[in-house]
Amino acid sequence: MNKWYLFFGVSVPISLIMLIPLSNFDSVTGVEISNMISFSVRWAVPFIHLVIAISSLQIIFPGALTRWLMLNRKYIGLIFAVAMAWQGLFIFIMSYYFHDYYFSEVYYFRDEIEGSIGYIFLVAMVLTSFDFGKKFVDSKQWRIIHKAGIYFLWAYPFSVYWWAISYYETPLMIDYFFYWLGFFAFLARIIAWGIVRNRKVSRKTRLNALLGSILIVSGLSLSALSLYWQNSITESLTALEWSSILELWLPFWPFEPFLSLMIIAVGTMILTKEGVRRIDPDIIEQR
Ligand code: HEM
Repeated sequence: MNKWYLFFGVSVPISLIMLIPLSNFDSVTGVEISNMISFSVRWAVPFIHLVIAISSLQIIFPGALTRWLMLNRKYIGLIFAVAMAWQGLFIFIMSYYFHDYYFSEVYYFRDEIEGSIGYIFLVAMVLTSFDFGKKFVDSKQWRIIHKAGIYFLWAYPFSVYWWAISYYETPLMIDYFFYWLGFFAFLARIIAWGIVRNRKVSRKTRLNALLGSILIVSGLSLSALSLYWQNSITESLTALEWSSILELWLPFWPFEPFLSLMIIAVGTMILTKEGVRRIDPDIIEQR
């Protein structure tokens, strides 16, 4: 099952699934539309996590499956876009028909900015995935749109579920599932990057290996224990006035959900760093 067959084979059933909860509503309220927003986005999230991991999975596990995923990456991205279009429709219904509920219960300025940027990227990525849209951008602009867009669209749901498990006392199982899915998807990118870097390294030092490993283990531990450090880290990172102002509008600021992955990435960088070549002073003299 490839390309458009894959696209229709998955996105049509997803679209039909959207109709099930809708048909069970006695009367539609703001709460129900909010639930539909969550319901639809849950069908989208696995696909963006898969898309962000595919090129790395091909490096970590080269084989028929990852080659097939790579071949169909664009179509998997388009399946994500279809599920997101359903979320977009429910967001529109809520903001247009349940205006009061939307502004009293849902609206939060920074979320609005993050969500709107996400949709702008999504539309730009879909349009430039086809020949008619590609005409408007050169290859450098295309790469920027798709790279930045994919990172942003991964970061949004990843941070939503990170907050769900790190801030609220009673997260759902699905919150853990989606958090770990997003975490491992990005971890795959770091591992693949480390593998490629490691191939180029001819000389390592024990100190780098030790320091890198310590950082990786610390990052992994932090990723599982965020409920215990989120509050104190958020407080200290937003203690200064400029930082607490940025928190009100700058997407993801101060980036707490991504700290553990950043630490793992720095650890991988140090672990795969070329050691300094010691030059024997006698050899220099002979030269
Ligand atoms: C302006 C645009 C957006 C608006 C107004 C919006 C609004 C909402 C609302 C109302 C909910 C349900 C919250 C609740 O019931 O507690 C929600 C959930 C969610 N949204 Fe958005 N959203 C937007 C864009 C996005 C984008 C671009 C993404 C990226 C993939 C995204 C991912 C999510 C996720 C992961 C959830 C949680 C679903 C769950 O409960 O499992 N949203 N959003």
